[in-house]
Amino acid sequence: MEVRPLHPVFAAELIGADLTNAPDSALVDLVEQAMAQYGVLAIRGAEITDEQQKAFSRAFGPLEIPSRAKDAAPRPQGRRVITPGIFYAGNLDHNGEIIPYGDDAAKLAKGAERFHTDSSFHLMPTKWSLLHGVETPPPSAGGDTWFTDARAAYDDLPQAMKDRIEGLIGVHDFWEGRRRAGLQGEITPQEKRIIPFPEVEHPLVRSVNGSGPNGRKCLYVGGHCIGIKGWGEAEGRELVEELYAHATQEKYIYRHQWKRWDLVIWDNRCTMHAATPLLSDAYRRDMRRTTINESGPETSALEWMIRQGLIAA
Ligand code: OGA
Ligand code: MN
Repeated sequence: MEVRPLHPVFAAELIGADLTNAPDSALVDLVEQAMAQYGVLAIRGAEITDEQQKAFSRAFGPLEIPSRAKDAAPRPQGRRVITPGIFYAGNLDHNGEIIPYGDDAAKLAKGAERFHTDSSFHLMPTKWSLLHGVETPPPSAGGDTWFTDARAAYDDLPQAMKDRIEGLIGVHDFWEGRRRAGLQGEITPQEKRIIPFPEVEHPLVRSVNGSGPNGRKCLYVGGHCIGIKGWGEAEGRELVEELYAHATQEKYIYRHQWKRWDLVIWDNRCTMHAATPLLSDAYRRDMRRTTINESGPETSALEWMIRQGLIAA
């Protein structure tokens, strides 16, 4: 097996790994090491099933179960539900038909076009996401995923800014994040009921736990981060947007162009990512994500918040 860098700053490709069996300790160690160094790791040709993807993911942490699974009883026009434990990120509905880009059923997913870290609107200790391209559009049709390195972005900040932001707490909010990502119109009570997340707080500057180069600090300002705890709204928004703009500069971006059976792993703690639009409704893009946490039981963020008494059952 070999790890080959894909970008001057971060991101690499792992070549020669077999993901069809549960990974042995050599593969687990290699992936942990590569992730600690590169933050994003692409594995091409991972022709595996959802169950194999889950088994591989679980070798690195407990799965975060998608929160809406229990509410997602067949809504034929809604996005597909695959199997418990898989978050659907593709453009197919329950019947396997393409949901047009402009369709109402796709409107929430567009929030992913703003750079974000998965699940930062949750309390759970998010670790990685693993996104699998089961069907992918041709390269010219859009649908690439962009990644930024929030460690390099932190390193490059002027010392005065590092001093200014040390110890600040970011406020993360799902719906306000969606609004800032361009969500139009009213959020319906039904939508609020299905996704009832309150604001949560995370350090604005954090580091990834664990060994090696990952004592590195990073900016935690993905798209759900809307302000700073204890600051006025305008002030907080201004700082968050300044840091976001800094961290999403061209020089920090790796663009992943998908091929069928790619599995791309990213560290949600120290990278951000953004979907890009599909340029045509003619193509199927069937993308399936597992998300893992650093620790904790395998449960959904919703169940976890209910258990923590943050929202009513
Ligand atoms: C995700 C995500 C981007 C994409 O699955 O978390 O943001 O390009 N996906 O599908
Ligand atoms: Mn995402």
